[in-house]
Amino acid sequence: MFRYRHATFADVEEIFALINGFAAEGLMLPKTYSTLYETLPEFVVAQEISSGKIVGCGALHCTWNELAEIRSLTVSKDFHRRGIGGEIVKLLLEDGRKLGVTKFFTLTYNTPFFASVGFKIVPRETLHQKTWKDCLDCRFFPNCNEIAMTLE
Ligand SMILES: CC(C)(COP(=O)(O)OP(=O)(O)OC[C@H]1O[C@@H](n2cnc3c(N)ncnc32)[C@H](O)[C@@H]1OP(=O)(O)O)[C@@H](O)C(=O)NCCC(=O)NCCS
Repeated sequence: MFRYRHATFADVEEIFALINGFAAEGLMLPKTYSTLYETLPEFVVAQEISSGKIVGCGALHCTWNELAEIRSLTVSKDFHRRGIGGEIVKLLLEDGRKLGVTKFFTLTYNTPFFASVGFKIVPRETLHQKTWKDCLDCRFFPNCNEIAMTLE
């Protein structure tokens, strides 16, 4: 059983480990503690109720008017394919809709997952210019194969 909730400072160590573990495999951008503390309100986590362990996280990052990115989405490998990623995205979409977001996007290698929660593949060039800001800090820039997907 898992609880899905907004992150608190107490979760930051585990969020750091989750994100940077997958970042080391080249699946996502790494995050520093500084960035995690600054963007903490963007994060939701999945917590295993029996152990208290944080097994997944994800963030909603507002980019432009009514536009937001689903980013830093991770589920611990031992817990894949149990619906946890889907529940995290559901909560992030709820957060976004409350803010008035009308278009969500993501840059990902896992298109089947995002398709399962309603996203569609779009040409990367169709995303707002502002969405490329963080790409400049990525070690794969400009040779990145991530696929752009949106949900409107
Ligand atoms: C992407 C990720 C968060 C998905 O988490 P998850 O909890 O395993 O996802 P869910 O169980 O909610 O998956 C829902 C559906 O998505 C699809 N799906 C998820 N992962 C998939 C994969 N690797 N291959 C094919 N389909 C996949 C399936 O249709 C799945 O339903 P099913 O298990 O009934 O077939 C997880 O794989 C992960 O942490 N990956 C590494 C980090 C990463 O790539 N993050 C995304 C970058 S933004």
